[in-house]
Amino acid sequence: MTASKGLEGIVATQSAISSIIDDTLTYVGYDIDDLATNASFEEVVYLLWHQRLPKEDELAELKQQLADNMSIPQEVLDHFKTYPIDQVHPMAALRTAISLLGLYDDKAEDMSDEANYEKAIKLQAKIATVVTAFSRVRKGLEPVAPKSELGYAANFLYMLNGEEPEDIAIEAFNKALVLHADHELNASTFTARVCVATLSDMYSGITAAIGALKGPLHGGANEQVMKMLMEIGSEENVEPYIREKLDNKEKIMGFGHRVYRKGDPRAKHLREMSKKLTSLRGEQKWYNMSEKIEAIVTGEKNLPPNVDFYSASVYHSLGIDHDLFTPIFAVSRTSGWTAHILEQYANNRLIRPRAEYNGPDKQKYVPMSER
Ligand SMILES: CC(C)(COP(=O)(O)OP(=O)(O)OC[C@H]1O[C@@H](n2cnc3c(N)ncnc32)[C@H](O)[C@@H]1OP(=O)(O)O)[C@@H](O)C(=O)NCCC(=O)NCCS
Repeated sequence: MTASKGLEGIVATQSAISSIIDDTLTYVGYDIDDLATNASFEEVVYLLWHQRLPKEDELAELKQQLADNMSIPQEVLDHFKTYPIDQVHPMAALRTAISLLGLYDDKAEDMSDEANYEKAIKLQAKIATVVTAFSRVRKGLEPVAPKSELGYAANFLYMLNGEEPEDIAIEAFNKALVLHADHELNASTFTARVCVATLSDMYSGITAAIGALKGPLHGGANEQVMKMLMEIGSEENVEPYIREKLDNKEKIMGFGHRVYRKGDPRAKHLREMSKKLTSLRGEQKWYNMSEKIEAIVTGEKNLPPNVDFYSASVYHSLGIDHDLFTPIFAVSRTSGWTAHILEQYANNRLIRPRAEYNGPDKQKYVPMSER
Protein backbone atom coordinates (compact mmCIF):
# COMPACT_ATOMS: atom_id res chain seq x y z
CA MET A 1 0.00 0.00 0.00
CA THR A 2 1.49 3.33 -1.06
CA ALA A 3 -0.17 6.59 -0.01
CA SER A 4 -0.75 9.48 -2.40
CA LYS A 5 -0.08 12.59 -0.33
CA GLY A 6 -3.17 14.80 -0.33
CA LEU A 7 -4.90 12.03 -2.35
CA GLU A 8 -3.45 13.65 -5.48
CA GLY A 9 -4.56 11.88 -8.62
CA ILE A 10 -6.96 9.56 -6.77
CA VAL A 11 -10.39 9.14 -8.35
CA ALA A 12 -12.60 8.61 -5.30
CA THR A 13 -16.10 8.54 -6.75
CA GLN A 14 -18.22 8.85 -9.87
CA SER A 15 -20.42 11.93 -10.14
CA ALA A 16 -22.76 13.40 -12.74
CA ILE A 17 -22.80 16.86 -11.16
CA SER A 18 -19.72 18.71 -12.33
CA SER A 19 -16.44 17.95 -14.04
CA ILE A 20 -13.02 19.44 -14.66
CA ILE A 21 -11.50 18.08 -17.84
CA ASP A 22 -8.57 19.76 -19.60
CA ASP A 23 -9.02 22.91 -17.51
CA THR A 24 -12.69 23.21 -18.51
CA LEU A 25 -15.27 23.28 -15.72
CA THR A 26 -18.78 22.10 -16.51
CA TYR A 27 -21.89 21.72 -14.40
CA VAL A 28 -23.87 18.73 -15.75
CA GLY A 29 -22.12 19.24 -19.09
CA TYR A 30 -22.79 22.99 -19.35
CA ASP A 31 -19.62 25.05 -19.66
CA ILE A 32 -19.15 27.41 -16.71
CA ASP A 33 -18.56 30.28 -19.19
CA ASP A 34 -22.03 29.70 -20.65
CA LEU A 35 -23.68 29.54 -17.21
CA ALA A 36 -21.77 32.54 -15.79
CA THR A 37 -22.94 34.63 -18.73
CA ASN A 38 -26.55 33.47 -18.92
CA ALA A 39 -27.87 31.68 -15.83
CA SER A 40 -29.43 32.82 -12.59
CA PHE A 41 -28.13 31.18 -9.41
CA GLU A 42 -31.53 29.53 -8.87
CA GLU A 43 -31.33 27.91 -12.33
CA VAL A 44 -27.91 26.53 -11.38
CA VAL A 45 -29.23 25.21 -8.07
CA TYR A 46 -31.98 23.39 -9.95
CA LEU A 47 -29.47 22.11 -12.51
CA LEU A 48 -27.21 20.68 -9.80
CA TRP A 49 -30.08 19.06 -7.91
CA HIS A 50 -31.94 17.63 -10.93
CA GLN A 51 -29.15 17.35 -13.52
CA ARG A 52 -31.20 19.36 -16.01
CA LEU A 53 -32.16 22.99 -16.46
CA PRO A 54 -35.60 23.93 -15.08
CA LYS A 55 -38.60 24.83 -17.19
CA GLU A 56 -40.26 28.16 -16.43
CA ASP A 57 -42.79 26.78 -13.91
CA GLU A 58 -40.15 24.60 -12.24
CA LEU A 59 -37.89 27.60 -11.75
CA ALA A 60 -40.77 29.66 -10.39
CA GLU A 61 -41.59 26.87 -7.95
CA LEU A 62 -37.98 26.61 -6.74
CA LYS A 63 -37.77 30.39 -6.27
CA GLN A 64 -40.94 30.29 -4.24
CA GLN A 65 -39.69 27.38 -2.13
CA LEU A 66 -36.43 29.20 -1.42
CA ALA A 67 -38.24 32.40 -0.50
CA ASP A 68 -40.72 30.50 1.72
CA ASN A 69 -37.91 28.79 3.64
CA MET A 70 -35.58 31.70 4.28
CA SER A 71 -36.66 32.52 7.80
CA ILE A 72 -34.66 30.94 10.64
CA PRO A 73 -35.81 30.03 14.16
CA GLN A 74 -35.69 32.83 16.75
CA GLU A 75 -33.56 30.47 18.88
CA VAL A 76 -30.80 30.59 16.25
CA LEU A 77 -30.94 34.41 16.18
CA ASP A 78 -30.86 34.53 19.98
CA HIS A 79 -27.92 32.14 19.99
CA PHE A 80 -25.83 34.66 18.00
CA LYS A 81 -26.14 37.05 20.92
CA THR A 82 -24.42 34.53 23.20
CA TYR A 83 -21.29 34.32 21.00
CA PRO A 84 -18.12 36.18 22.07
CA ILE A 85 -18.65 38.50 19.11
CA ASP A 86 -15.20 40.16 19.18
CA GLN A 87 -13.38 36.91 18.58
CA VAL A 88 -15.83 34.81 16.55
CA HIS A 89 -15.06 34.38 12.88
CA PRO A 90 -18.29 34.34 10.82
CA MET A 91 -17.29 30.94 9.40
CA ALA A 92 -17.19 29.52 12.94
CA ALA A 93 -20.54 31.15 13.65
CA LEU A 94 -21.93 29.69 10.42
CA ARG A 95 -20.62 26.21 11.21
CA THR A 96 -22.30 26.34 14.62
CA ALA A 97 -25.54 27.89 13.35
CA ILE A 98 -26.03 25.29 10.59
CA SER A 99 -25.57 22.53 13.13
CA LEU A 100 -28.04 24.32 15.40
CA LEU A 101 -30.59 24.66 12.59
CA GLY A 102 -30.72 20.86 12.45
CA LEU A 103 -32.06 20.79 16.02
CA TYR A 104 -35.12 22.78 14.95
CA ASP A 105 -35.93 20.70 11.85
CA ASP A 106 -38.38 17.93 12.75
CA LYS A 107 -37.31 16.10 9.55
CA ALA A 108 -33.59 16.28 10.38
CA GLU A 109 -33.35 12.52 10.93
CA ASP A 110 -35.88 11.54 8.23
CA MET A 111 -33.82 9.89 5.50
CA SER A 112 -36.59 9.59 2.88
CA ASP A 113 -35.83 11.09 -0.55
CA GLU A 114 -38.60 13.68 -0.06
CA ALA A 115 -37.30 14.78 3.34
CA ASN A 116 -33.73 14.98 2.05
CA TYR A 117 -34.76 17.10 -0.95
CA GLU A 118 -36.74 19.36 1.40
CA LYS A 119 -33.67 19.68 3.62
CA ALA A 120 -31.60 20.75 0.62
CA ILE A 121 -34.13 23.52 -0.06
CA LYS A 122 -34.22 24.55 3.60
CA LEU A 123 -30.44 24.65 3.90
CA GLN A 124 -29.99 26.61 0.67
CA ALA A 125 -32.65 29.09 1.74
CA LYS A 126 -31.64 29.49 5.37
CA ILE A 127 -27.88 29.76 4.91
CA ALA A 128 -28.35 33.17 3.26
CA THR A 129 -30.32 34.34 6.29
CA VAL A 130 -27.83 32.91 8.77
CA VAL A 131 -24.88 34.73 7.17
CA THR A 132 -26.67 38.06 6.74
CA ALA A 133 -28.40 37.98 10.13
CA PHE A 134 -25.15 37.15 11.95
CA SER A 135 -23.44 40.01 10.17
CA ARG A 136 -26.15 42.41 11.35
CA VAL A 137 -26.51 41.08 14.89
CA ARG A 138 -22.78 41.42 15.56
CA LYS A 139 -23.06 45.10 14.58
CA GLY A 140 -25.99 45.61 16.93
CA LEU A 141 -28.47 45.78 14.03
CA GLU A 142 -31.76 43.95 13.67
CA PRO A 143 -31.89 41.15 11.06
CA VAL A 144 -33.80 42.07 7.91
CA ALA A 145 -36.54 39.71 6.69
CA PRO A 146 -36.24 38.58 3.04
CA LYS A 147 -38.56 39.96 0.35
CA SER A 148 -40.28 37.15 -1.52
CA GLU A 149 -40.31 39.11 -4.79
CA LEU A 150 -36.50 39.33 -4.89
CA GLY A 151 -34.25 36.67 -6.42
CA TYR A 152 -31.65 34.86 -4.31
CA ALA A 153 -28.69 37.16 -5.08
CA ALA A 154 -30.75 40.33 -4.55
CA ASN A 155 -32.28 38.97 -1.36
CA PHE A 156 -28.89 38.18 0.11
CA LEU A 157 -27.65 41.74 -0.47
CA TYR A 158 -30.96 43.15 0.76
CA MET A 159 -30.86 41.12 3.99
CA LEU A 160 -27.22 42.10 4.48
CA ASN A 161 -27.59 45.85 3.98
CA GLY A 162 -31.27 46.55 4.63
CA GLU A 163 -31.71 48.25 1.27
CA GLU A 164 -32.42 46.90 -2.18
CA PRO A 165 -29.21 46.55 -4.22
CA GLU A 166 -28.46 48.24 -7.55
CA ASP A 167 -28.79 46.10 -10.70
CA ILE A 168 -25.03 46.00 -11.21
CA ALA A 169 -24.53 44.62 -7.69
CA ILE A 170 -27.18 41.94 -8.27
CA GLU A 171 -25.57 40.97 -11.58
CA ALA A 172 -22.11 40.72 -10.04
CA PHE A 173 -23.28 38.82 -6.97
CA ASN A 174 -25.39 36.41 -9.02
CA LYS A 175 -22.39 35.69 -11.24
CA ALA A 176 -20.17 35.07 -8.22
CA LEU A 177 -22.76 32.64 -6.81
CA VAL A 178 -22.97 30.78 -10.14
CA LEU A 179 -19.18 30.52 -10.37
CA HIS A 180 -18.77 29.13 -6.84
CA ALA A 181 -21.72 26.70 -6.88
CA ASP A 182 -19.88 23.45 -7.52
CA HIS A 183 -16.40 22.20 -8.26
CA GLU A 184 -16.13 18.44 -8.66
CA LEU A 185 -14.56 16.65 -5.68
CA ASN A 186 -13.00 19.64 -3.89
CA ALA A 187 -12.01 19.26 -0.22
CA SER A 188 -15.29 20.43 1.33
CA THR A 189 -17.48 18.45 -1.08
CA PHE A 190 -15.42 15.35 -0.40
CA THR A 191 -15.84 16.04 3.34
CA ALA A 192 -19.61 16.28 2.91
CA ARG A 193 -19.71 13.02 0.97
CA VAL A 194 -17.52 11.17 3.47
CA CYS A 195 -19.75 12.39 6.30
CA VAL A 196 -23.09 11.40 4.78
CA ALA A 197 -21.75 8.12 3.37
CA THR A 198 -22.02 6.87 6.97
CA LEU A 199 -25.75 7.64 6.48
CA SER A 200 -25.46 10.63 8.75
CA ASP A 201 -27.96 13.44 8.14
CA MET A 202 -27.65 16.41 5.76
CA TYR A 203 -27.08 18.99 8.52
CA SER A 204 -24.05 17.00 9.66
CA GLY A 205 -22.77 16.84 6.07
CA ILE A 206 -23.08 20.61 5.53
CA THR A 207 -21.62 21.41 8.95
CA ALA A 208 -18.60 19.22 8.16
CA ALA A 209 -18.24 20.82 4.72
CA ILE A 210 -18.26 24.32 6.21
CA GLY A 211 -15.46 23.27 8.53
CA ALA A 212 -13.38 22.13 5.55
CA LEU A 213 -14.14 25.22 3.46
CA LYS A 214 -13.02 27.51 6.27
CA GLY A 215 -9.30 26.77 5.86
CA PRO A 216 -7.09 29.23 3.93
CA LEU A 217 -5.94 26.54 1.48
CA HIS A 218 -9.60 26.20 0.40
CA GLY A 219 -12.41 28.78 0.68
CA GLY A 220 -10.64 30.82 3.34
CA ALA A 221 -8.23 32.06 0.66
CA ASN A 222 -10.54 34.84 -0.59
CA GLU A 223 -10.43 36.67 2.76
CA GLN A 224 -6.64 36.23 2.88
CA VAL A 225 -6.33 37.76 -0.60
CA MET A 226 -8.07 40.94 0.59
CA LYS A 227 -5.92 40.99 3.71
CA MET A 228 -2.86 40.85 1.46
CA LEU A 229 -4.18 43.65 -0.79
CA MET A 230 -4.79 45.83 2.27
CA GLU A 231 -1.31 45.07 3.61
CA ILE A 232 0.28 45.97 0.28
CA GLY A 233 -1.75 49.17 0.25
CA SER A 234 -0.45 50.75 -2.97
CA GLU A 235 0.47 49.83 -6.50
CA GLU A 236 4.12 50.79 -5.91
CA ASN A 237 4.38 48.36 -3.02
CA VAL A 238 3.21 45.33 -5.03
CA GLU A 239 6.57 44.43 -6.52
CA PRO A 240 8.70 44.49 -3.31
CA TYR A 241 5.94 42.83 -1.23
CA ILE A 242 5.32 39.92 -3.59
CA ARG A 243 8.98 39.38 -4.40
CA GLU A 244 9.82 39.20 -0.70
CA LYS A 245 7.08 36.61 -0.14
CA LEU A 246 8.25 34.53 -3.07
CA ASP A 247 11.89 34.78 -1.92
CA ASN A 248 10.77 33.54 1.51
CA LYS A 249 8.95 30.65 -0.20
CA GLU A 250 5.62 31.86 1.18
CA LYS A 251 2.43 31.07 -0.65
CA ILE A 252 0.53 33.85 -2.39
CA MET A 253 -3.14 33.40 -1.59
CA GLY A 254 -5.46 33.12 -4.57
CA PHE A 255 -2.89 31.37 -6.79
CA GLY A 256 -2.33 27.76 -7.73
CA HIS A 257 -4.65 24.82 -7.92
CA ARG A 258 -4.46 21.08 -7.47
CA VAL A 259 -6.33 20.28 -10.69
CA TYR A 260 -6.01 23.21 -13.13
CA ARG A 261 -2.74 23.53 -14.95
CA LYS A 262 -3.20 26.36 -17.43
CA GLY A 263 -5.66 28.30 -15.30
CA ASP A 264 -8.94 28.38 -13.41
CA PRO A 265 -11.71 29.16 -15.95
CA ARG A 266 -13.70 31.04 -13.29
CA ALA A 267 -10.97 33.59 -12.67
CA LYS A 268 -11.47 35.54 -15.91
CA HIS A 269 -15.13 36.25 -15.10
CA LEU A 270 -14.20 37.58 -11.69
CA ARG A 271 -11.29 39.57 -13.15
CA GLU A 272 -13.68 41.25 -15.60
CA MET A 273 -16.15 42.01 -12.81
CA SER A 274 -13.44 43.31 -10.55
CA LYS A 275 -12.30 45.69 -13.30
CA LYS A 276 -15.84 46.94 -13.88
CA LEU A 277 -16.86 47.31 -10.24
CA THR A 278 -13.65 48.87 -8.92
CA SER A 279 -13.80 51.42 -11.72
CA LEU A 280 -17.48 52.20 -11.04
CA ARG A 281 -16.67 52.71 -7.35
CA GLY A 282 -13.59 54.85 -8.15
CA GLU A 283 -11.37 52.27 -6.45
CA GLN A 284 -9.38 50.99 -9.42
CA LYS A 285 -6.33 50.56 -7.24
CA TRP A 286 -7.53 47.17 -6.02
CA TYR A 287 -7.87 45.90 -9.57
CA ASN A 288 -4.60 47.46 -10.70
CA MET A 289 -2.77 45.95 -7.74
CA SER A 290 -4.34 42.55 -8.43
CA GLU A 291 -3.25 42.68 -12.07
CA LYS A 292 0.30 43.49 -11.03
CA ILE A 293 0.37 40.64 -8.52
CA GLU A 294 -0.93 38.28 -11.19
CA ALA A 295 1.80 39.35 -13.63
CA ILE A 296 4.54 38.69 -11.09
CA VAL A 297 3.23 35.39 -9.70
CA THR A 298 2.40 34.03 -13.13
CA GLY A 299 5.73 35.22 -14.54
CA GLU A 300 7.87 33.96 -11.66
CA LYS A 301 6.07 30.78 -10.62
CA ASN A 302 3.88 30.00 -13.60
CA LEU A 303 0.93 29.87 -11.17
CA PRO A 304 -2.31 31.35 -12.54
CA PRO A 305 -4.94 32.96 -10.25
CA ASN A 306 -7.76 30.81 -8.96
CA VAL A 307 -11.40 31.67 -8.18
CA ASP A 308 -10.47 33.34 -4.89
CA PHE A 309 -8.07 35.94 -6.26
CA TYR A 310 -10.36 38.39 -8.06
CA SER A 311 -13.45 37.51 -6.02
CA ALA A 312 -11.79 39.40 -3.15
CA SER A 313 -11.82 42.78 -4.92
CA VAL A 314 -15.29 42.05 -6.33
CA TYR A 315 -16.80 41.50 -2.86
CA HIS A 316 -14.84 44.44 -1.45
CA SER A 317 -16.29 46.67 -4.19
CA LEU A 318 -19.76 45.49 -3.21
CA GLY A 319 -19.10 46.88 0.26
CA ILE A 320 -19.03 43.44 1.90
CA ASP A 321 -17.05 42.92 5.13
CA HIS A 322 -13.90 40.94 4.39
CA ASP A 323 -14.59 38.18 6.88
CA LEU A 324 -17.89 37.45 5.11
CA PHE A 325 -16.15 36.48 1.86
CA THR A 326 -15.75 32.82 2.85
CA PRO A 327 -19.27 32.52 4.32
CA ILE A 328 -20.53 33.79 0.95
CA PHE A 329 -18.55 31.04 -0.74
CA ALA A 330 -20.39 28.62 1.60
CA VAL A 331 -23.77 30.15 0.69
CA SER A 332 -23.13 29.39 -2.97
CA ARG A 333 -21.39 26.03 -2.46
CA THR A 334 -24.31 24.74 -0.38
CA SER A 335 -25.99 24.09 -3.74
CA GLY A 336 -23.13 21.81 -4.79
CA TRP A 337 -22.74 20.20 -1.37
CA THR A 338 -26.43 19.33 -1.15
CA ALA A 339 -26.41 18.03 -4.75
CA HIS A 340 -23.46 15.76 -3.92
CA ILE A 341 -25.10 14.61 -0.69
CA LEU A 342 -28.29 13.66 -2.59
CA GLU A 343 -26.16 11.85 -5.19
CA GLN A 344 -24.24 10.04 -2.43
CA TYR A 345 -27.46 8.90 -0.70
CA ALA A 346 -28.87 7.67 -4.02
CA ASN A 347 -25.98 5.24 -4.57
CA ASN A 348 -24.26 4.97 -1.24
CA ARG A 349 -21.32 3.01 0.02
CA LEU A 350 -19.30 3.85 3.13
CA ILE A 351 -16.16 5.82 2.21
CA ARG A 352 -13.32 4.24 4.11
CA PRO A 353 -9.86 4.43 2.55
CA ARG A 354 -6.68 2.95 4.00
CA ALA A 355 -3.52 4.49 5.48
CA GLU A 356 0.02 3.39 4.69
CA TYR A 357 1.44 2.70 8.15
CA ASN A 358 4.83 4.32 8.78
CA GLY A 359 5.06 4.13 12.57
CA PRO A 360 7.21 1.83 14.74
CA ASP A 361 6.81 -1.92 14.52
CA LYS A 362 6.78 -4.94 16.87
CA GLN A 363 6.77 -2.97 20.11
CA LYS A 364 6.32 -4.67 23.47
CA TYR A 365 4.22 -3.21 26.24
CA VAL A 366 6.46 -1.58 28.87
CA PRO A 367 5.13 -1.43 32.43
CA MET A 368 4.70 2.08 33.81
CA SER A 369 7.51 1.68 36.35
CA GLU A 370 10.04 0.91 33.55
CA ARG A 371 9.20 3.77 31.13
C1 LIG B 1 -4.51 25.47 -4.00
C2 LIG B 1 -3.34 24.76 -3.35
C3 LIG B 1 -3.69 24.40 -1.91
C4 LIG B 1 -3.04 23.48 -4.13
O1 LIG B 1 -2.11 22.80 -3.40
P1 LIG B 1 -1.29 21.52 -3.91
O2 LIG B 1 -1.85 20.96 -5.15
O3 LIG B 1 -1.17 20.63 -2.75
O4 LIG B 1 0.10 22.15 -4.30
P2 LIG B 1 1.32 22.37 -3.30
O5 LIG B 1 0.90 23.18 -2.13
O6 LIG B 1 1.95 21.05 -3.05
O7 LIG B 1 2.25 23.26 -4.21
C5 LIG B 1 3.07 22.75 -5.28
C6 LIG B 1 4.23 23.73 -5.48
O8 LIG B 1 3.73 24.98 -5.94
C7 LIG B 1 3.98 26.01 -4.98
N1 LIG B 1 2.76 26.79 -4.80
C8 LIG B 1 1.50 26.34 -4.88
N2 LIG B 1 0.64 27.34 -4.66
C9 LIG B 1 1.39 28.43 -4.45
C10 LIG B 1 1.06 29.77 -4.16
N3 LIG B 1 -0.20 30.15 -4.04
N4 LIG B 1 2.06 30.65 -4.02
C11 LIG B 1 3.35 30.26 -4.13
N5 LIG B 1 3.72 28.99 -4.40
C12 LIG B 1 2.74 28.10 -4.54
C13 LIG B 1 4.30 25.29 -3.67
O9 LIG B 1 5.09 26.05 -2.82
C14 LIG B 1 4.98 24.05 -4.19
O10 LIG B 1 6.28 24.40 -4.54
P3 LIG B 1 7.50 23.38 -4.28
O11 LIG B 1 7.18 22.17 -5.12
O12 LIG B 1 8.69 24.15 -4.74
O13 LIG B 1 7.49 23.08 -2.83
C15 LIG B 1 -2.08 25.66 -3.38
O14 LIG B 1 -1.83 26.08 -4.71
C16 LIG B 1 -2.21 26.85 -2.47
O15 LIG B 1 -1.93 26.73 -1.27
N6 LIG B 1 -2.69 28.04 -2.98
C17 LIG B 1 -2.93 29.18 -2.13
C18 LIG B 1 -4.24 29.05 -1.40
C19 LIG B 1 -5.43 29.23 -2.32
O16 LIG B 1 -5.48 30.15 -3.12
N7 LIG B 1 -6.40 28.33 -2.16
C20 LIG B 1 -7.63 28.38 -2.93
C21 LIG B 1 -7.71 27.26 -3.91
S1 LIG B 1 -9.09 27.44 -4.98
